Amino acid sequence: MDLFEALESNVRYYCRRWPAVFASAHGAVITAEDGTQYLDFFAGAGALSYGHNNPVLVEVAIEHLRAGRLTHSLDTFTVEKRQFLEAMQRYVLAPRQLDMVVQTVGPTGATAVEAALQLAQKISGRRAVLGFAGSYHGMTYRASSISASMAGRAVSAHLKDFVALPFVEHVTDADLELLERTLHTPVDGELIGAVIVEPTQGEGGARAFDPLYLRAIRTLCDQAGVIVIADEVQAGVGRTGPFFSFEGSGLDPDIVCVSKSISGLGLPMALNLIRRGLDTWGAGEFSGTFRGNNLAFATSTRMLETYWVDSTLEKQTELNGRTVRNALETMALGAGEGRFTVRGNGLLCGLDVGDTDLAADIAAAAFERQLIVETCGAGDTTVKLLVPLTIDETQLRDGLTRLADAVATTCSDR
Ligand SMILES: Cc1ncc(COP(=O)(O)O)c(C=O)c1O
Repeated sequence: MDLFEALESNVRYYCRRWPAVFASAHGAVITAEDGTQYLDFFAGAGALSYGHNNPVLVEVAIEHLRAGRLTHSLDTFTVEKRQFLEAMQRYVLAPRQLDMVVQTVGPTGATAVEAALQLAQKISGRRAVLGFAGSYHGMTYRASSISASMAGRAVSAHLKDFVALPFVEHVTDADLELLERTLHTPVDGELIGAVIVEPTQGEGGARAFDPLYLRAIRTLCDQAGVIVIADEVQAGVGRTGPFFSFEGSGLDPDIVCVSKSISGLGLPMALNLIRRGLDTWGAGEFSGTFRGNNLAFATSTRMLETYWVDSTLEKQTELNGRTVRNALETMALGAGEGRFTVRGNGLLCGLDVGDTDLAADIAAAAFERQLIVETCGAGDTTVKLLVPLTIDETQLRDGLTRLADAVATTCSDR
């Protein structure tokens, strides 16, 4: 540990939460170099939805490297990109009647968000953006500027052409009126060009927007000529059950940001899906050295072919999501009626314990029980669970038992 402290910047974070030196990982289990095994209910902040070193995907990666396939290719045509595009079309876009093209971007979610905002500005001719309290879009200058705090304004507040509305769990007429009015009110002297929304908020506390509100965003944005961007970086690729967390809501976005688990193996990869008629990019207008991670294309293709040919995984995620929610409800009841709130959608779940220190202490107590969980939400009061989608039932129940014990023990001290 001393070596890390001496040589790494103070900005390091997760290692402070989980002070162990990790050495290997398989599925939902990470093993430290001293042999201690941890159940991972954080899954790389949602980048490892298909588990650590998923054996099917590891085989693809090894074969890819052994065969001398390309690793890096800018945005040139490659065999792996062709196979990936075909798989996206066949298993993701076509079944959902999405007539969209793929823009590969540099390898982070924030880069996808930057590209989406720039394209929306180009299409609409307007720079101002509307977002929502509790949303998180990444750490680049503009993405962090539109990541809104719970108070409803940008955390870093260094952009004037951004406005945030409150998160909406159960839509009311007042919410709709506010949305409509905001869409027609100039921000910093200019009408809004784009709305960006995480249909299920991850960092904001595992909170799902009311689908009726998402539908209204689409309708009202159509009327106002505003581009709709869905940030599916955390909630997408099956995390909430369906491939996209907005499915069935009627949000029908113009641009969808995808990253985190899209490679299946936790490799850096990000892309935007763009409604075909809105793909107004000029050649090279948005660029990036690492847009062609062929290893990630190869593992992503296999992930899509393995898990998205039918609805088996989606159903399993809904089932496991119910198991998690039931367990969280039991923990909430144990703490006393009305004290804690259970949130979530599919396997993006959280227990809001209403207190920053209590949430942190529960996460620490979970780690003592060899369970990795993180906190999120307003004031970091929610214990968040991002269980790998591929987890087996025994491990799921084992992890929930450890969490229940951590919650009960921590609460009994208060
Ligand atoms: C919804 C959402 N958008 C964007 C990002 C930024 O992704 P990255 O950290 O890869 O830049 C995140 C990261 O947590 C996210 O949860």
